[in-house]
This record gives sequence, structure tokens and C-alpha cells, in this order.
Amino acid sequence: MLEPAINTNDIAQLIEPGRIHRRVYTDPAIFDLEMERLFGRAWLFVGHESQIKKPGDFITTELGRYPVIMTRHDDGTLQVLINRCTHRGPKVVNEKCGHRKQLTCLYHGWTFDTAGKLLRVPVPEGCAPAFNTDKYNLAKVPRIGCYRGFVFASLAQAGLSFDEHIGAMKANIDDLVDRAPDGEIAFDAGMHRYLYRGNWKLQVENVLDSYHVPFSHASTVSRDGVQFARREGDEKGTKVVAEGGRTADEWKKRRSFTVGHGHGWTSNTALDEGKRASPAFNQYKAVLASKVGASRAQQILTPKLHNTLIYPNVSIMGLNIHVRIIKPLAVDLTEVNIYPVRLVGASDEMNFGNIRLLNVTHAAASFVQTDDLESFTRAQIGLQSDLNDWVDISRGLGAEETADGVSSEFATHEMVVRAQYAAWRDYMCAV
Ligand code: FES
Ligand SMILES: [Fe+2]
Repeated sequence: MLEPAINTNDIAQLIEPGRIHRRVYTDPAIFDLEMERLFGRAWLFVGHESQIKKPGDFITTELGRYPVIMTRHDDGTLQVLINRCTHRGPKVVNEKCGHRKQLTCLYHGWTFDTAGKLLRVPVPEGCAPAFNTDKYNLAKVPRIGCYRGFVFASLAQAGLSFDEHIGAMKANIDDLVDRAPDGEIAFDAGMHRYLYRGNWKLQVENVLDSYHVPFSHASTVSRDGVQFARREGDEKGTKVVAEGGRTADEWKKRRSFTVGHGHGWTSNTALDEGKRASPAFNQYKAVLASKVGASRAQQILTPKLHNTLIYPNVSIMGLNIHVRIIKPLAVDLTEVNIYPVRLVGASDEMNFGNIRLLNVTHAAASFVQTDDLESFTRAQIGLQSDLNDWVDISRGLGAEETADGVSSEFATHEMVVRAQYAAWRDYMCAV
């Protein structure tokens, strides 16, 4: 391991109680260290089991700088393999997803099974006498954890267990999955994939940021300050702007929550009030009630959660339901993958409605997400200036309320961002 260009003491000094140094967004040496100490250690979201239902199904993705393949093997096991040929190094699989019985490297044709075992090499008589195929299997990620179809992996052999990391966030995954009449969701409607010229943490901070909405997304509200409807069955969205362009009181009441490890969520706004209705929604509600009972269905359809962040790379969005993966590519370049969620057991019409609305809000050329991407891009440019080194995250500092391990605060404050940087510092300073 090379001596890092920045030492632990320097890193600790970049994070203060209510502010962070701009270098966390702009310094390539810090990015390198993030790939090693944060993405190289943390539990990272890989994908969803519905993407690899049948033996031979696979997806490819990246965990930090490691290209990986998630496969369903012949014996039904889920595998997360390092996508690097053990001969001379190329990615063995180049497609984003597909179905194959065997995985063959394009360079010289070495062929592996879907658990990474090297099956054969062309011209085997050319191999050295001691060549042993068992030593050339694809490497596997050291640790895998799954909860209700959500697959996570850690590139570190040891560290926080999956349960320690994810335990407090299981209820947030339940909140989404329980909305499906069959108690199961699927990622099978494609995804939106795009890049922005900014640091990955700008998107991570933003998923729980309720402060920006009335301003960044002002173009999405009508003259009475109400956002357009973003869910099947809603006539209109949330009231976010009051007279004179001020943030609406209803919006200011929203709360944020943190539970350690950088995770957090925001509460739901009063969108429901029993008014949600449409032929597709009513039919979905009836199917859900027939499966889980009327009172449980009512509970499920009165969600308490809006957006959730499972630090560091995945968020579950509760309004236009989707799962968002954040992939750092360089200190100033980030990829975002947005997966529409299909509620298994709901009608095609209901699920199609969700995809249609997600196209309106979170496609690369949509009403909502483009506003955020513009903020991230401008932030990355502004943060190049060293005449002001500090980024302020002090809103609500000292006003956090903690009970039973959960801290809460107004969602227009910045407790969740401070919690993310507390976790960031823990990962980055642990040697
Ligand atoms: S590099 Fe993969 S088969 Fe040679
Ligand atoms: Fe936004």
C-alpha cells in the first residue's frame, strides 16, 4: 500500500461540527483514499435479486473502482465476482446485464462458470507444467449480505457485520417492499443512467435535503405553491412555497432522522389524507387489502417515510418510488443509476403509472432531477476557489433530539449531512 498523499490528521481537520473543507469535494488524493478506505470497506449496494432470477442471469456494476459481476449460479446461489480475467486482466463481461451459462473472456477465450470457476483455457498444452486451473478462478467479493432482495457486498474481509450496518435500516426497506401486494419488488423496467460533472457526495447529501426543494424546484410548483402530482392517484403534490416565495409552513414541519453509519431518512409530508384515488390506485388498494387485510393496507398506504439513504451508495425514494445508486467515477465525475420499482402483485397499469411519473421527474431530461444536477455541477465549479475554503452545514446544529438511538431534526436543517460526514470521517480516519 502506497503512503497516502494526505494523512489521517489532515483528514480529521477537514470536518468541523458545522462546516467541511472544500477539499473533500475537489482533492483527487482524497478521492483515491475514499476508494480505498470508504468504498473499499463499507457495505455497498450491488443490485436487486430480481435482476438475476434464473441461473445464468447476470448484471455488471462497480463497487468503488472494482468492476463486479453479480450472477445466479446453477445451484441457485447468488455470486458477486470480481470482473477481471485471471489471465491478463480484462473485464470478462462487458454487458450491463444478460443471461449466459458460461463467461468467456474476449481476449484469449478463458471460460469461467457463473460461480467464477475456470472451466477451460484454449491451447491448454501451452500452459506451464504446474498450471492449475483451481488457482485461476475469478475472485469473489469477500462478504455478501441480502435483505428482502437488496444485495450488498463489502470488499473488506472483516469489519462491521451486515446486520450491524443495515439493521436499523431494515424498516426502511420494508416500507417500500411492503407496498407490493405480493410482498416483493422487482427491478425489471430498465433504468435511467447518467453522469454529472461533480463529486459523488453532492448527490448523497441531496437525497435527504428538504431545504432546496422550494428554490431549486420552483419551476415544478403552480402559482399556489403546490408541486405537480408525482404518484398514481394523487391530484396534486405537496405545498412547498407560500406567499412571497417563502417556504410553506407545511413543508417546514418535515423531519429528518439519523441512526449512525451515515444512514438517514426524511418523513413523509401530509400528501395522503385519504384522498388518493384513481381507477388504477383503487384497484391496487383493493388487491393489497385482499392480501394483507384492510387495516394493514391502510397502514402501508399511509407511509411515514419519504426518502431514505443507506450510506454510502444507495437511496430509496418513496414518492416516485425508485432506488437510486450513486457511483463515484472521479473526484469530479459521478454516475447515477435510477431503477423504477415494480410492485409485484399490482396491476400493470399501476406499475406503468409509476414508470411514467418517474420519467417526468428523474429521467436525464426531466423536471426535478435536472435542477439538482445543475446545482451539483455549479457547486463543483464554485468549490475550485480557495478564497473561501469552507462549506457550511450548520443549520440546526445543537437542536437535534435523540431518543432510542434515533436523532431527529427539521428536514430543512442539515443534521443528516453532518451525520454523513461523521461517518465519512470514521471510514477515512480508520487506518
Ligand atoms: S486476458 Fe482473458 S483470456 Fe487472456
Ligand atoms: Fe432535488
